[in-house]
Amino acid sequence: MNSLLLVNIGQLVTVGSVTGSQGPRRGVDLKEIGIIQNAAVLCVGGTIVSVGTTADAVRDSWLKKSRSKVREIDCAGQVVLPGFVDSHTHPVFVSPRLVDFEKRIEGASYEEIGAAGGGIRSSVEGVRAASKRVLADKVLTTLQAMAAHGTTTVEAKSGYGLTVESELKSLEAIREAGSRWPGTVVATLLGAHVVPKEFQGRSRKYVEAVCKDMIPRAAKRKLAQFVDVFCDKGAFTAEETERVFAAAEEHGLRVRAHMGQLSETLLSPLLRYHPASFDHMDHVNDADLAELATRDTVATLVPGANYFLGLKEYPNARRLIDAGVPVALATDYNPGTSPTVSMPMAMSLACTQMKMSPAEAVAAATINGAWALRLADRKGSIEPGKDADLAIFSVKDYREIPYWFGANHCAVTVLNGVAASGE
Ligand code: NIG
Ligand code: FE
Repeated sequence: MNSLLLVNIGQLVTVGSVTGSQGPRRGVDLKEIGIIQNAAVLCVGGTIVSVGTTADAVRDSWLKKSRSKVREIDCAGQVVLPGFVDSHTHPVFVSPRLVDFEKRIEGASYEEIGAAGGGIRSSVEGVRAASKRVLADKVLTTLQAMAAHGTTTVEAKSGYGLTVESELKSLEAIREAGSRWPGTVVATLLGAHVVPKEFQGRSRKYVEAVCKDMIPRAAKRKLAQFVDVFCDKGAFTAEETERVFAAAEEHGLRVRAHMGQLSETLLSPLLRYHPASFDHMDHVNDADLAELATRDTVATLVPGANYFLGLKEYPNARRLIDAGVPVALATDYNPGTSPTVSMPMAMSLACTQMKMSPAEAVAAATINGAWALRLADRKGSIEPGKDADLAIFSVKDYREIPYWFGANHCAVTVLNGVAASGE
């Protein structure tokens, strides 16, 4: 059995529950991140078996007997965190969108570019023309880059194919890339990303294809765990979102949605589908916040998108956290609004632009990301029994991770017990 011991860890951030509260972290619990100085973590067969001080670990009788067979990583002067859970990414695309980038710099908005045929629709041609193998290679390269920045679990969406065949091909590419990567991948069908141009003016027909064809086929072949919808102006209405959610439920898939990125949608009618997460959440009303505070639907904030679109406003994280809504952070890696693989960058933006504390940013990027994927029983904290997903950073204090923005200080990532070097 492969065994791995991280010893002499300067600062271990376990993100284990301090207050014993159940469910995703909310309110003041979000900043309880459980720090142990001079710590050790023992992993056996891809599972964390013990967490404590180095002094306790070296006295352990099993370890005394077996130490020669255990691979050891000396983490003196370093920080160890749970591997990041990037719970919102769109990695299945072929090319960067450089024309959109320049147009926005010249003053066009994301919506204007989309309405003029750019935006999401301009990534579609490339995905439709690409082979599954090419797409899988692209996704794998992205997963590796994410791991180099400390990410060990990734939610990956389709959404640039927008035909039954191309969406299924995108999901197959995600599955293939995931099978070649030691981390954990959760696949999401985002057939309802935008209405493709051949269905322009006939969105009802397109939604029908998503509900009657894409979802059943993806579910039957177990190609996706979640179904997502881009619910906003220029994409899909709340009523269309509900239809997609109902089809997902009927076929045993869980739901999540892009919500409130450009405009507000009433959330409460959609809560009956128990969405794991509503993502973006730039626009949301107080009544919906109060309702979310009583639920396990996570608000996943993706400040990389606001940054890259050059917006002055960011989602109001303080309002959400103080209302008791569980908040996660993700990259939203995609070619249109957030071409970054870096969870530390998302955390830095959360701290400087959204006034989250570094401790809140860590919990939002780990345990609450795991909740947003309904994987919190296995992921998101360093506790015995959980998967051996860890990130080692060459800094002395965890607050340096969001502090040194734009730099990657991840030295080693451990994915399901397999160590890969970063930088
Ligand atoms: O999360 N808003 C919808 N989807 C992506 C953008 C996709 C794109 O522009 O390619 C987002 O921001
Ligand atoms: Fe997105």
